[in-house]
Amino acid sequence: MATEAHTRLQDIMSRRPVILAPMEDVSDGVFRALCRTLGAELCVTEFVNAEGLLRGCRTAKRKITLAPDDRPTAIQIYGSDASRLAEAARMAEAAAPSFIDINCGCWVPKVSGRGAGAGWLRNPQKMVEMARLIVGIVGLPVTVKTRIGWGPESEMPIIDLARRLEDVGVSALTIHCRVAQVGHSGPADWSWARRAREVVAIPVIVNGDVRSGADAERALAETGCAGVMVGRQAIDHPWIFREARARLDRGIDLPGPTPAERFALCRAHLRANVAERGLPYGVRVTRRHLAGYLRGLPDAAALRRTLLVEDSLERCLEILDAAEAALERRVAA
Ligand SMILES: Cc1cc2nc3c(=O)[nH]c(=O)nc-3n(C[C@H](O)[C@H](O)[C@H](O)COP(=O)(O)O)c2cc1C
Repeated sequence: MATEAHTRLQDIMSRRPVILAPMEDVSDGVFRALCRTLGAELCVTEFVNAEGLLRGCRTAKRKITLAPDDRPTAIQIYGSDASRLAEAARMAEAAAPSFIDINCGCWVPKVSGRGAGAGWLRNPQKMVEMARLIVGIVGLPVTVKTRIGWGPESEMPIIDLARRLEDVGVSALTIHCRVAQVGHSGPADWSWARRAREVVAIPVIVNGDVRSGADAERALAETGCAGVMVGRQAIDHPWIFREARARLDRGIDLPGPTPAERFALCRAHLRANVAERGLPYGVRVTRRHLAGYLRGLPDAAALRRTLLVEDSLERCLEILDAAEAALERRVAA
């Protein structure tokens, strides 16, 4: 049954959204807020273990807690048992996300080997039945993120699967255009997203190897998909969202971020993570982003090495302030 949430999802999809991918230990509330200010129209939480949710595990509960302004955001869940996933979907629904996304694409052996994530691709019939069950139980739209298939096959199951998932009421489909067995290696083949898109009326989102605004434009042009999802490039360069928006809406290439913006993002991300998680964890979880944020600045490698061993927020901020002041002096000289 179409609800307001279904209409809102359709509305988002009509705007050719550039979407922040679900990424474990990356796409948390802090990072989602930051990407949203840079132009991400829609975010998806990192995947949340259905069993963890049902056990009341603190980490799982934290992951589904959305701040009031964390909208539109979908909660992604994963698990290997359809009825447990359905129960978890009900719990996730109570956290009022924009929709529920089911992870059918995680290739990591400890997940897929147990039948969760991409493990569902080994039994498409079961996957479709699982989706049917969840669509029937939750009121919010249900979407699926998956891959083109499990292993090397000449005819990927994604085409048939897309049709069948649409038939059971799935509201949108994200396709990471690789098979599960390759993990993240080799190029993503967007042509599968095009072929799947051609056989369904629901929105299809293309994912894999979108690393620039020009890539986002090309991915949408080549596939005709409704939206594009960005993962790894956002970790290093979340400005990709505004760059993609500028290409899609105005056909222009934005200049890259200024040094001042790069330093400001390091500070903002560090501060927000420390406010959210305390010390030293807040500083430590920000580290994976800093090299990318500082890329291209003079002495970036040395700066990154200094920051990598610093657990104190104050010291990190001092180091960044000093580096920025030194750069300003250099430019002025
Ligand atoms: C660190 C990391 C964590 C990820 N965690 C998830 C996850 O929780 N759920 C999911 O569906 N995909 C996850 N992915 C896969 C991404 O969402 C995305 O499909 C993949 O990285 C391909 O897109 P990209 O080429 O833009 O990175 C993860 C990827 C990375 C690099």
